[in-house]
Amino acid sequence: MTLMEKMVNQARKPDGKFGKIFIRGMNKGNHAKMAKWALGYISIKSDAIILDIGCGGGGNIDRMTKIAVNGKVYGIDYSEVSISTSKKVNKKNIEKGNVEIKHSSVSNLPFLENTFDLITGFEAYYFWPDLVNDLKGIYKVLKPGGTLALTNEGYKGKNEKLRKKSEKWSKIGHFDIHDPDEFREFLTKAGYSEIKIIEEEIKGWILIKGKKESNK
Ligand SMILES: C[S@@+](CC[C@H](N)C(=O)[O-])C[C@H]1O[C@@H](n2cnc3c(N)ncnc32)[C@H](O)[C@@H]1O
Repeated sequence: MTLMEKMVNQARKPDGKFGKIFIRGMNKGNHAKMAKWALGYISIKSDAIILDIGCGGGGNIDRMTKIAVNGKVYGIDYSEVSISTSKKVNKKNIEKGNVEIKHSSVSNLPFLENTFDLITGFEAYYFWPDLVNDLKGIYKVLKPGGTLALTNEGYKGKNEKLRKKSEKWSKIGHFDIHDPDEFREFLTKAGYSEIKIIEEEIKGWILIKGKKESNK
């Protein structure tokens, strides 16, 4: 297996010592910059109840806890290494009851319907087994009027150089990447409305937002 294949496997499901280093790295650097950029476009009330799917090293849970100071941030991930790292990174807020992290797949979310004001996924959706069905499952646990926000670095954007780079990684890792129209179609099929797509074309970042209608 090449180093690049190993890296994609760690992004897919972090494991072992390398996995710990990998996701700690994602809490910083370029991924952190992308998350901060996206959070600038996501409205978070101080009492928001939030779920971060594929929480990895837990850096984004920590970031959102600082905004939702009177709310609560949950994280789920199917990797044991991601769960243990997220728990360490958010130890104080877990003790205070402001954060809860659960071991779970996106396809089987352990929450009641209509629970969350906001559900995020940062660099997470590439590895979901059945995208439209998984988006439907997320829709169920969103509150009416709640928002889904997916932020990605790898996508088919207008910046040709970055698109080619993303296509190269998707081939190596055997996962699909998409363009803005496809994202719109997936969210529409899963029932979301008010779909908004924001791109940072120089960096190659995309934020996809959709809402659960208030009367659902
Ligand atoms: C590339 S990492 C991103 C981590 C974090 N969101 C960040 O931005 O630093 C993707 C994470 O999603 C998790 N993941 C991938 N597929 C998943 C699934 N089907 N269910 C739950 N978690 C999943 C992986 O275990 C990994 O921790």
